Amino acid sequence: MAELDLSKYEKILFKHVDQEGSDTIDYYLKHGGYEGAKKAITEHRPSEVIDIVKESNLRGRGGAGFPCGVKWSFVPQNTDKPKYFVVNADESEPGTFKDRVLIERDPHSIIEGIIIGSYAIKCNVAYLYIRGELVYGYEQLVKAVKEAYDKGMLGKGLFGTDYNLDLTIHRGAGAYICGEETGLLSSLEGKRGQPKIKPPFPAVEGLFRCPTVVNNVETVCNLQHIINRGAEWFKNIGPEKGPGPKLLCVSGHVNKPGTYEVPMGINLKQLIYDVAGGVWKGNKLKAVIPGGTSAKVLKAEEVDVPCDFDSMMAIDTMLGSGAVIVMDDTTDMVDALYNIIRFYHHESCGQCTPCREGTGWLEKILKRIMAGHGRMEDIDTMLNICDRMVGKTICVLADAAAFPCSSIVTKFRSEFEAKIQQGAGYDKRIFTGGPLVQPGAVSRHNQERRKDKDTPNRISLDPELISKPSQSKVETTS
Ligand SMILES: Cc1cc2nc3c(=O)[nH]c(=O)nc-3n(C[C@H](O)[C@H](O)[C@H](O)COP(=O)(O)O)c2cc1C
Ligand code: SF4
Repeated sequence: MAELDLSKYEKILFKHVDQEGSDTIDYYLKHGGYEGAKKAITEHRPSEVIDIVKESNLRGRGGAGFPCGVKWSFVPQNTDKPKYFVVNADESEPGTFKDRVLIERDPHSIIEGIIIGSYAIKCNVAYLYIRGELVYGYEQLVKAVKEAYDKGMLGKGLFGTDYNLDLTIHRGAGAYICGEETGLLSSLEGKRGQPKIKPPFPAVEGLFRCPTVVNNVETVCNLQHIINRGAEWFKNIGPEKGPGPKLLCVSGHVNKPGTYEVPMGINLKQLIYDVAGGVWKGNKLKAVIPGGTSAKVLKAEEVDVPCDFDSMMAIDTMLGSGAVIVMDDTTDMVDALYNIIRFYHHESCGQCTPCREGTGWLEKILKRIMAGHGRMEDIDTMLNICDRMVGKTICVLADAAAFPCSSIVTKFRSEFEAKIQQGAGYDKRIFTGGPLVQPGAVSRHNQERRKDKDTPNRISLDPELISKPSQSKVETTS
């Protein structure tokens, strides 16, 4: 597949994130900030804003890739109920660390996107729900919201019109399931963060049973650029049916892990070898998870594929949250899967039997295999459990656990057979309890990398690092 010429790519979302003071409103205003929101409110009717965003083919960056403008158009117009615009900053999919860069280093771009989205659906009260562990990000957002109120970008009479908008930042308590939109809304309502059956979809009946749009942080950061530069301009970046700039988080066994802004549709191979510096230590590529641990794994020979929603779907995986996890030929795939499944079992909210029990059974079986007591029939039992989890639950967390499991077991079956035949022996994590999930889902490798001072820095989900500003360089293509 042809490679893109990245030297011609103009950064859009990450244009300012590595500049001094990029988080302040003065910097933001000096560089054209809030012009998109002003244009939307003073030059367009709300329905026109929806039409422009629909026309741009912007698709949600939170995981499902649903068309943004189409979702907005589902919000009923003839209702007396208030409408809500909610931005999802829960960012908990293992391997995903893109939204936090925008939150920490360009928070006003999120606020501007929220203004445009709220205006489009005629909402006067918006919320941003941020994952509890992102303490620094929360502080940055609170500071930015105060600045925005002080300068009249939020509050009453925006840009000299009669449009009012209030924005509240709400901190979660750190549960993966609160990233699922209906779980998030339950949590925002003050209840346990448990997902609800859809339909009704939030656009019709969401927060406090009122029409609600939920969008991801990265999604809303595209809005001002679409308003300022037009839908046609946006559609020319990458594939027409799902275009635009894309933030991809590359972690695992690469020389230059980091968050990269690239045009949608970049070849996955080009991303790994050219942008992220190739597989570390000159090792061979073994596998890649292309869209967060909820996505089905790809083998090395399958990575010559464009990174966009439809191309990934065509090869039976997904772009998901844009978390590309690279594994070299030293990776123990049984161990990697065990690590992933422990995470999903821990995060299942427990409402649905196939998810609550299924993730638990998978963990138990994998633990048994890892401890050297696996049975050959365990392999088909795991595939059978996965079959019974997909499409049978309130939300898709069960599917998100079953997809990596069934794909890893199927594509790397011989490794499971070998481990069962040999007996893996004592694994101390099984008895002492290790870190739950590392980005990259390759825990031993991560521990090794931390000891190795010559390898590039990277974002870790270590509890001691999580509340501090991002430790990694922000890598952007230019
Ligand atoms: C288990 C689970 C976790 C999720 N976590 C997140 C998350 O952390 N951030 C996010 O934006 N979307 C997350 N999503 C997707 C949201 O449910 C929703 O589709 C998204 O926020 C919509 O925004 P978008 O249309 O802009 O992508 C998650 C979904 C599931 C099933
Ligand atoms: S699928 Fe799992 S996480 Fe989702 S509602 Fe059911 S039990 Fe909860």
